[in-house]
Order: sequence, then structure tokens, then C-alpha cells
Amino acid sequence: MDLRERIAQMQEQINEMTAAHADEIEQLRIKYLSKKGEITSLFNEFRNVPNEEKREIGQLLNQLKEEATSRINTLKEQYDEAVSNASKADLTRTPDPIKLGTRHPLSLVKEEIIDIFSRIGFTVAEGPEIEDDWHVFSALNFPPEHPARDMQDTFFIEKHPDILLRTHTSSVQTRVMTSQKPPIRVLCPGRVYRNEAISARAHCFFHQVEGLYIDKNVSFADLRQALMYFAKEMFGPDTKIRLRPSYFPFTEPSAEMDISCNICGGEGCGFCKHTGWVEILGCGMVDPNVLEACGIDSKEYSGYAFGMGVERITNLKYRVKDLRMFSENDVRFLNQFKSC
Ligand code: DAH
Repeated sequence: MDLRERIAQMQEQINEMTAAHADEIEQLRIKYLSKKGEITSLFNEFRNVPNEEKREIGQLLNQLKEEATSRINTLKEQYDEAVSNASKADLTRTPDPIKLGTRHPLSLVKEEIIDIFSRIGFTVAEGPEIEDDWHVFSALNFPPEHPARDMQDTFFIEKHPDILLRTHTSSVQTRVMTSQKPPIRVLCPGRVYRNEAISARAHCFFHQVEGLYIDKNVSFADLRQALMYFAKEMFGPDTKIRLRPSYFPFTEPSAEMDISCNICGGEGCGFCKHTGWVEILGCGMVDPNVLEACGIDSKEYSGYAFGMGVERITNLKYRVKDLRMFSENDVRFLNQFKSC
């Protein structure tokens, strides 16, 4: 390749030169302009150029050297400017845009329930999700043949028929009663599991908040008063409650509580199936058998208990139609629950 072509080729390389760091710029200077650099070596070959071409080639070489020098200087200036701009930037600023997370609706409602009951002296107690039969069923007066023990309802741990995923937070009552002395006033929030087919209306796990109050002379009137206070705080001061007789193995008497439908205000609508009432929880006076099984003297003490589904209360407050939404982690759903 003759000298003219090599000069043209090097000119192209110089036009395309880029560098992001001072080191790279220095490498380019060494590559082209140092004593052993490629442009310098072209100059060394200049003496072999025939006389009649010396003038033209000499001009081309000088031009190449000038352009390489000026390109390298430009790269240096650009780099220095970028460095000085960067030092002016506030590197402690958080990147923009920053997306704020939102609380999960079940957490919001659970915390609201806890907050309401903490104002009348309840504290929070927690227990394990993997439990044994005694804490979930036997201590709570479930007879051995009770259908809730059936494999259809309960997830048992394989090969350990005594170990299971708790089906209700009432198991935490058992733990509190066997480890604390009355007066006891606790709220037990947590996740529970049942062997249900997943659909819009049922899930194999959901959340409950359990309440337990044990002291001398606790009466059904105390239970009713606490629940009425809760309903009005949660759903508004015009909310009415009604207690219907029911059955749970661990309470006697037992009841289910309805509140006046918070959608139609009790007039009757599709949501309350035109009854004006919606069920929100189960409750009752702790069965003396349960107190005795947990080592509490049932002649000296009495108590009430209640249990509610957090999903149920959340549906009433926010009208979530499909239970599966709670566990799908779809941000379009979660973003609607802005908390402050
Ligand atoms: N454990 C019951 C359930 O899972 C709810 C419940 C009802 C809890 C009555 C209670 C109670 O403490 O007194 O359906």
C-alpha cells in the first residue's frame, strides 16, 4: 500500500476516534503521536518519497498530524467538562422517578382491626402456622370425630397425622391460655389454611383475627359491647349489629354477628341478598371445658372469644369481588390502596 493510501486510511481512523476515560485518550495519543506512534512512523518514511511528490505528501502528513492532535485535544476537553459537571451533580439525590410502594389491603385492614381493639386494652399475640392437633382441635373441645378434622378441610403434614397447618387462629388462644395467667386480653392475627379448591369465593389460605378476653365475671354483655364498639369504629357510627345463635365447639353459648349492610345501609340490596344484614364474625363465651383444658379454673374465671376473616372485612370495606386478587400480586390491583 503506498503512503498516500495509508495516510487516507489513518485519517479515517482518526475521524472515528472516541474515548470515555483519560486513560483511553492517553492510549490514543501514544498510538498515533508518540515517538514510536503510527503517524510518527509515517513521517520516518517521508525520506523515501520521490522528490517530485515530497511537497504533496508532506502537506498530507502535516494535515494528518494536526487533525490527530486537535481530535485528541477535543476528546480531552469533553472529558474534563464531563468530570467537572459530574462533580457539580448531587450524588446523594435518589434516582428519579422513584415508585412508592403501597400497603397490601389485607395489612391495612388487619392493622385497622388491631388499632381499634388496642384502644380498649387488647394486645397482639402470635402463634405458629404449623401446629399440632391439640392446640388446633383437642384443647378447643373438638370431639375426635368432628368433621373439621377431616382430610377434606385440613392440610396434614405427610406421615405426621398430629402435625398440621392451622385451620383457624383459635389455636393461638390455646397457646396464650396455657402460657399466661388471667386477666388475658389478646388479639391474634394470622394466616390460616384449609384444603379448599381455589375460586373467587374460597382459597386454600386466608387470614383471621381472633380475640380473647378472660377475667373474673366476664359476661356476654361485655362481648356484645366490645363487638358493637368495633363495628361502629370499623364501618361507621350508624352501623347496627345483630347476634344470631350458632355453634362452635369452643364457645357456649355461641353466636354469629351480622352488621347492617354497609352498602345499602340496611335497606336491602344485591350484596346483602336483600336481607339488610351481612355476617362478619363468629363469637361466644369460652366453653368451660376449654378453660380447664388450658389450666384455667372455670369456676373463678370466664371469658369471651371472637374470630373474624380479614378478607371478609376487606371485601366489605373495598368491594373486592374475587378473593384471588389478594394473592396474585398484580400491581394494578395493589396500586389502588394508597396508604399514608
Ligand atoms: N375459629 C372460627 C372459624 O375459624 C371463628 C371463631 C368463631 C373464633 C367463634 C372464635 C369464636 O373465637 O368464639 O370459623
